[in-house]
Amino acid sequence: MKAFFRPIAFLASLAMLGAASVSWSAAKNDWPMEAFEPDLTDLPSLQNGFKLYANHCLGCHGLQYQRYGRTADDLGIPRELALESVVFTGQKIGELMTTSMDPEQAKAWFGATPPDLTLEARLRSPEWIYNYLKTFYVDESRPLGVNNGVYPNVGMPNVLLPLQGVQRYDAETKQLSLDPGTGSLTAEEFDQAIYDLSNFLYYVGEPSRLQRQRLGIYVLLFLVILGTFTYLLNREFWKDVH
Ligand code: HEC
Repeated sequence: MKAFFRPIAFLASLAMLGAASVSWSAAKNDWPMEAFEPDLTDLPSLQNGFKLYANHCLGCHGLQYQRYGRTADDLGIPRELALESVVFTGQKIGELMTTSMDPEQAKAWFGATPPDLTLEARLRSPEWIYNYLKTFYVDESRPLGVNNGVYPNVGMPNVLLPLQGVQRYDAETKQLSLDPGTGSLTAEEFDQAIYDLSNFLYYVGEPSRLQRQRLGIYVLLFLVILGTFTYLLNREFWKDVH
């Protein structure tokens, strides 16, 4: 190939690669996603998400880069209270939130090892998690009797079924519907619970985001004050020059 054509061929193959990956992701995500806006200033939501996570998820999914103590401090929960209400494993408050599940056994039970979820919100997006947790439905053809809208043929059991109730999918109308009275929460309460869980996983993906935003305000304030004095000093220096 002539040297001149090489960059063109390279660019063309890049473009093809791009096109291929776009069609792949489109094929994977044709489920209509509901919008989700995380809110890190909503501490009650994050606290509830933490509690829900410890109660319903931590048994299978660790958060191996996150410590109980740090989480409690960030979310404004007194450490003793956190120790009582979210640490069920006999671990200490300063420990990492690991799971005691054996990955080999988990693989045998579910066909897939439950992954660590510390970085899940960055890997998939908080919106994906929100939709994932909302779209489990009954599917007798699957080994666990359950399928998922955004994660077809998922290997995770529908662990929130007692809260949400039995959800069914109608392939003709492409709609999900709930069997009334089968869940302990109303549809709105369940939505809120899923919102809080997704919000919490968004926080866990980058815990320093909270601190950074808080610190950012002080940095800006400092710059304004410094700027004012610099300006005054500059005026003082140049006063007699003209
Ligand atoms: C009984 C064990 C178990 C529990 C409890 C559980 N999961 Fe899972 N989860 C799994 C398994 C197994 C997979 C892997 C599924 C697969 O890849 O097919 C999974 C996958 C996931 C994924 C997708 C990971 C990916 O591939 O990107 C998310 C997100 C998730 N779980 C969130 C949760 C949340 C939130 C809770 C708590 C409400 C929870 N899980 C409770 C077993 C569990």
